[in-house]
Formats: sequence, C-alpha cells, structure tokens
Amino acid sequence: MTDQESHLENVSKSAAAIRAACGGGPVPRVAIVLGSGLGGLADKVEAATVVPYRDLPGFPVPTVAGHAGTLLVGRLGGSPVLVLNGRKHFYETNDPYPLRTMIRGVRAAGVEVLFLSNAAGSLRPHIGVSELMLITDHVNFLGLNPLTGPNDDAFGPRFFSMTGAWDPALSERLRAVARAEAITLHEGVYVAFRGPSFETPAEIRMAQGWGGDAVGMSSVPECLIARHCGMRVVGVSCITNMGAGLSDENLTHAHTIENASRGAAAFERLVTAAVPVLADGSG
Ligand code: HPA
Repeated sequence: MTDQESHLENVSKSAAAIRAACGGGPVPRVAIVLGSGLGGLADKVEAATVVPYRDLPGFPVPTVAGHAGTLLVGRLGGSPVLVLNGRKHFYETNDPYPLRTMIRGVRAAGVEVLFLSNAAGSLRPHIGVSELMLITDHVNFLGLNPLTGPNDDAFGPRFFSMTGAWDPALSERLRAVARAEAITLHEGVYVAFRGPSFETPAEIRMAQGWGGDAVGMSSVPECLIARHCGMRVVGVSCITNMGAGLSDENLTHAHTIENASRGAAAFERLVTAAVPVLADGSG
C-alpha cells in the first residue's frame, strides 16, 4: 500500500470511529482544537464520550506535557461539540500525515467548522498576558506546508485560496459573543515559527515588521489542511507571554502552561458561549 492509500484508509476508519462515538446521532458541526494549557475545557464537555487518539488510526500521539491526545464528543453551552484535546507540533515531527489524518478524519465524519486555539506570545504592548486574541490572518514561517507532496484529490484541489481563511463571518460571530460576555478579545495576525526554541528578540522584531500581532508554533498547519478540504476555520490565541525581548521575563514551557491556565477561564467562557452560535448553519 502507498502512503497515500494507507492515509485514505486511516481517514475513513477514523471517521467511522468518530461517527460511532456519536452513538448513531448527528456528528457535531463544530470541532475545537485545544492548545497548550487550554485542555481544561475538555472537563467542561457534558455527556462526553472519550476516544483516545491511539484508537483512531493514523491520529497523532502527542508527546508534549499539556497535550492529552483524546477526542471527545459531547455538549458545550447546550450544543453538540467535538473536542480535539492535544495535537502534534511540527517541532515534534516532520511527518504531516498524522495531522492530515486528524483534520480530514473529523471532516470526513461530518464536521464543518474548526475552532483552533493556541498559546502565543504577544508582539504588541496593548495585547497583554492572559488575554485573548481573535486570529484574523496568519503568516506561515514554519518553513513547510503540510500539503506538500502529491495532492490528495479526494480531499481538495492542488491550489486553493487562503484569502479569508480565518472565516470573516464566523469571526464576526465570535466578536459578538465576546461583547455579550464582556470578554476582551483583541485581534490580529498570528505568525507561526517552527520552534522548538522560542524566538530571538531579533526574530520578534522581524515578525512585528511583517505585521504580526502574536507568535506561536501551531495552528497554521491545521488551518491549511482544513481550508484545503473545505472546512471553515476560526481561531483564538491565549497570550501567555510577551514576545522575546519585549519584557524582562524568561520564556519557558512551564510559564506558557501557567499563564495559559490564567487566561483559560475567559477562554472557556468564550468557547462555551460560542459553540451554539458557531453551530448555527446559517450564513
Ligand atoms: N513564541 C512561540 N510560541 C509560543 C510563545 C512564544 O513567545 N508563547 C507561547 N507559545
């Protein structure tokens, strides 16, 4: 079997397992990818059926603290939701297939909207630690694209537009939810670095010059794969630190997890209120 054939088989087996986890009922319209330190939301999912990634053929098995590696199906804010708790970053692997399988598996099961979340460093003084930022666009500085190699025509076209990739209409719904919940929601451009090192102060100045507002090591590959297969994407960064050189703090992963959990209360409130609004199929 070629890589492509085994990928197709993994996607369809995983999609079947996800449909089975939905107990024969409808598959949620919205899936949420939980970022570093934001996994607490998984505990808020009601009537959850939990499937470990290892039971989903071809899914990534995370290696980083703060990433569980479980898929949940249940309800949030009264609406059906699918939660992907944990993912693999490109600093853990050069293999794009597990991430492709994860995103395309949920797509093939019937999910239409992907809500991406991440921990990120701020590039702007007005975007503070533990605050939230709506992602309106991104810069892919990973040095790779998860869709390189032969195109999988079964999922999407070779070439596709990334204009409006972070869905403007769904983002507008998120802004309205944040206003109604009195949650500060900044907005801006997310610049993805490969990691695993944090950036140098010179790289942070470069990212600022590129029009970036936050930096991180994830979410861009997920967005690319999801847009390729026709999903709508929205996303929020939880700011865990100022970018390197913008404050005196020393950047560590423990610090990321700690500050993400400080921002997690607002994140959880926003997402819980947003799920029913994003699940509405009109517009
Ligand atoms: N840089 C890259 N990734 C991150 C950061 C950062 O400053 N903070 C949290 N994730």
